[in-house]
Amino acid sequence: MSDGHGRPWALLAELTHGCPLHCPYCSNPLELARRSQELTTDEWRDVLRQAGEYGVVQTHLSGGEPLLRTDLAEIVAAADVAGIYTQLVTSGVGLTEARLGALVDAGLRSVQLSVQHADAARSDRIAGHRAFAAKERAAALIRKTGLPLGVNVVLHRDNLDAVNAIVDLGVAWGAERIELANTQFYGWALRNREALLPSRAQLASAGAVIERRRAELAGTTELVWVVPDYFDGVAKPCMGGWGAVSLTIAPDGTALPCPAASVLPGLDPPNVRDRRLEWIWESSPAFNRYRGTAWMAEPCRSCPRKESDFGGCRCQAYALTGDAARTDPACALSPDHGLVRAVADSPRGAHAQAPLPHPTYDARASPAEPLRGQ
Ligand code: SF4
Ligand code: FES
Repeated sequence: MSDGHGRPWALLAELTHGCPLHCPYCSNPLELARRSQELTTDEWRDVLRQAGEYGVVQTHLSGGEPLLRTDLAEIVAAADVAGIYTQLVTSGVGLTEARLGALVDAGLRSVQLSVQHADAARSDRIAGHRAFAAKERAAALIRKTGLPLGVNVVLHRDNLDAVNAIVDLGVAWGAERIELANTQFYGWALRNREALLPSRAQLASAGAVIERRRAELAGTTELVWVVPDYFDGVAKPCMGGWGAVSLTIAPDGTALPCPAASVLPGLDPPNVRDRRLEWIWESSPAFNRYRGTAWMAEPCRSCPRKESDFGGCRCQAYALTGDAARTDPACALSPDHGLVRAVADSPRGAHAQAPLPHPTYDARASPAEPLRGQ
């Protein structure tokens, strides 16, 4: 095995890029996989069987919107048979009582529900779809089954001032865990960065709210605050390291060390249709490309933090500098850090005050083809 890394323990299964929502920070690639290219039920069964045998213990069934897959319960059952804990990551749109019942019967263990804002109209506007009522219904259905519920919110300038109300919403919906993740700017979020970038003042006041609410909710609801790396000069340990703990399988079977890596030039990622998972993880050039620390240049190469942050995010380094092997510009030690500082300290990032005019987003579209078998 390369560079002393162990086997993966988590698998992000992107079942489809299709989605009724059009979030401006969507983590799916700019080039979406077409519905006709999606792995079949049997192909997912095989992937999950291999994953279980190889030591994967947890999978996030995600998308896009995984409920668009009519075979979702069969995929959950395959994971369960393989001994893999399944969490459904969903917008809640399309989750009926019957559908949820079938998923629970198949072995689903928990659900992560996304919401865009505590206010219904603003949530719908950010999502580009009237989805808030469906989310509210989905939360109630999930709680009724007794499954653990997590609420997931991507934060940006249009909802950061509402974090207190968002926490209230998550608590009212019965969430055990509320994940408040500040936008990471690559892919769609980079394209919409001008509209999504918060001000330092917004971030500081939201951070203070989180600290207070965390203390209040200690022991009942877990609050997770994912810090924005543009503002503090600290690179995040993206993915826990490249090819270190988890892998992503895209809808068409492309295997990636991180969900955004398909844009990296020359990566030539392997596909589960051609190769076994074990070969992909241990021997594929793509998974070994930025694994460990040997690939690093200065300043990472001689930095004491290289074993803990792994040089930051390869996709962000590529998006901002055109070279995925450079130090992540989010790091204050990076020679390219000025690229990030210029944005974070721009008049908009530094001084803008809420309430702000509604931004116009460049929205992603869904792949138009119908799902195989529908
Ligand atoms: Fe991390 Fe590299 Fe910055 Fe050091 S120089 S803190 S290893 S990103
Ligand atoms: Fe790809 Fe960070 S998002 S390495």
